[in-house]
Amino acid sequence: MDSSKNYKLYIDGKWTNSDSGETFPSINPVSEGVIGNFQKGNKDDVNRAVEAADKALEKWSEIPAPKRGIILLKVAQLLRENKEKLARELTMEMGKVLVEARGDVQEAIDIAEYMAGEGRRLFGYTTPSELKDKFCLTIRRPFGICGLITPWNFPFAIPAWKIMPALICGNTIVFKPSSDTPLCATRIIEIFEKAGLPKGVLNLVTGPGGTVGMSIVKHEKVRCISFTGHKDTGASILKEAGLKKVGLELGGKNGIIVMDDADLNLALDGVIWGGYGTTGQRCTAASRVIVHEKVKNKFEKMLVNRIKKLKLGNGLNPKTDVGPLINKKAQEKSKMYTEIGIDEGAKLLIGGKIPKMKGFFFKPTLFTNCSIDMRISQEEIFGPIVSLITVKNFDEAIDVMNSVEYGLSSAIYTKNMNKSFKAIEKIETGITYINSSTIGAEVHLPFGGIKHTGIGTREGGWTGIEEFSEIKTVYFDYSGKLQKAQIDE
Ligand code: UN1
Repeated sequence: MDSSKNYKLYIDGKWTNSDSGETFPSINPVSEGVIGNFQKGNKDDVNRAVEAADKALEKWSEIPAPKRGIILLKVAQLLRENKEKLARELTMEMGKVLVEARGDVQEAIDIAEYMAGEGRRLFGYTTPSELKDKFCLTIRRPFGICGLITPWNFPFAIPAWKIMPALICGNTIVFKPSSDTPLCATRIIEIFEKAGLPKGVLNLVTGPGGTVGMSIVKHEKVRCISFTGHKDTGASILKEAGLKKVGLELGGKNGIIVMDDADLNLALDGVIWGGYGTTGQRCTAASRVIVHEKVKNKFEKMLVNRIKKLKLGNGLNPKTDVGPLINKKAQEKSKMYTEIGIDEGAKLLIGGKIPKMKGFFFKPTLFTNCSIDMRISQEEIFGPIVSLITVKNFDEAIDVMNSVEYGLSSAIYTKNMNKSFKAIEKIETGITYINSSTIGAEVHLPFGGIKHTGIGTREGGWTGIEEFSEIKTVYFDYSGKLQKAQIDE
């Protein structure tokens, strides 16, 4: 890859420089070298992008949804043809191991195909009227211009979760990706361009969240904002967005309950995958293990033995289990939380160090004897750090699970059917896994959380359509006279 290459914004179907005249680098978290330089967009660029999206809106929304779906199918096809190349670039840009990078591209393909099919549904309701010779129904309409602001941890899948439903519903888009993964975002745009998406329908503005992101959020012509990222950013978006539809996906402090009757080998695989997959950098990562006291010692030993074997390294190497963190700041954050955990009196069982190698690596870390009030049991770290909390029984496990401000994903390992149903009822999260890890949501099901994870947003599946369309209620009176609801007898 040519590291000196300057990549551009994509506005109104043209690749263009930012008005700022400035660029920023995307950094490979393994080599710490520059992958390419990207436009440092500003408010004027956002204004240009919004104008382009506005101009394109009427024509795009008039194209029948099944036909819009055909473009999504072409995008899926192009993603599939380029899957290996895209996955390798993803690994170079954000560090996740190649098998997971392939999964990320696959998730984008899956959602493109799913949403293409939605083009032939976009269902509304029909329902009887309370009056004779009258008919009631609902139809879906696009919002108009959607502002999509995405994180770096799933640089293909998460933009796809937003772009595909937004397009199938007939919206046009201004897309601002994370400044840690602008190359992946550029590749998505290139694919849409090749698939024949009309100009102005999807516009890319790279650059800082504070200027580009906030200019999108505040722009009066933007009708819908969809954001995935940090809770504090989500809260300020909500404050600044004014009277827009806002969708927020804001992370978690997800837990896995391991009961005394659990299949411990199965639970072990789940905790390792949930806690250290993507180096712990998933909203759905399992950063807490809530373990029954009867199996605590045994399970701790099993975990430590497995963690010892995890191989850190370049995600392009097939022997690597855990890649680096996204950047230096994230590496320092993991180090800081390790120190906090030790200061709080948690017992560090393994890891807790920056290894002596190039790149933003951090050793997979396990704390035990954690209590629920510790910061390492409460705050989202977004690194390879897991806190083990011991409980006496099922009820206490549920209390511990619910003791955090977030509510995204959760899991319970037990063979007891009654307890698993009780867990589904009692756990305050948007997603619960039974005998499986907290990660690995599928695209045709709703994805989202409760409490401070969001404001009711559910992406994916049919609820993904609800995030990007408005409902119009239609009354059709064929009586030929004025009929009055609630008044006519
Ligand atoms: C995220 O971590 O931001 O279920 C999303 C999963 C993935 C999506 C995670 N499909 O882990």
